[in-house]
Amino acid sequence: MVGPHGRGSNMAAIVRACRAGTVPAVVEVVIPSGNGSGAEELARDMGIRVQVVLPGDGYGPRLMEALVGCEYVCLAGYLRLLPNEVLDNFPMRVLNIHPGLLPKYGGKGMYGRRVHEAVIAAGEKESGCSVHLVTPVYDEGPIVMQKSCPVLPDDTPETLAERVLMLEHLAYPEALAKVIVDRPR
Ligand code: GRF
Repeated sequence: MVGPHGRGSNMAAIVRACRAGTVPAVVEVVIPSGNGSGAEELARDMGIRVQVVLPGDGYGPRLMEALVGCEYVCLAGYLRLLPNEVLDNFPMRVLNIHPGLLPKYGGKGMYGRRVHEAVIAAGEKESGCSVHLVTPVYDEGPIVMQKSCPVLPDDTPETLAERVLMLEHLAYPEALAKVIVDRPR
């Protein structure tokens, strides 16, 4: 599931890894929460089924309908709290990626550029990304995987974001594969 303004680069990394066989899964559907995002266009270009589900009345049940046949949910650039229906029906099977080393620089309102700004302002020497399981509290579910990179003295939020994004594209498929393989059966 991708946010209304998502570029879809993490979604594309997951699709590629599934197609290459490094993640034992098939991407059934991409669900944007807004119309006309880059992620939506990219998913269509990659031949993935797209089903836009706009927030509003009955959002939870409509999401559940769109997720029929799915076993896992991956959030990428999805900035809302997920309806309880989805969390209840996919226990420990909803993943999210955060562009920082949680538990630092997470929580409501901490996303995208704001994370990188805060990391630079705090004088951190290291940043990175975290893939975690989603629980009802923002950015607080168990961490599945983190990858780190240096913060350079002349970094801007943009240059740091670019370095972290490269790690995200590696970490998200790896973490998804780990969650699938480690799932108790
Ligand atoms: C990523 O930086 C991710 O960490 C955050 O939202 C951004 C989504 O980027 N949750 P993209 O749409 O996958 O390119």
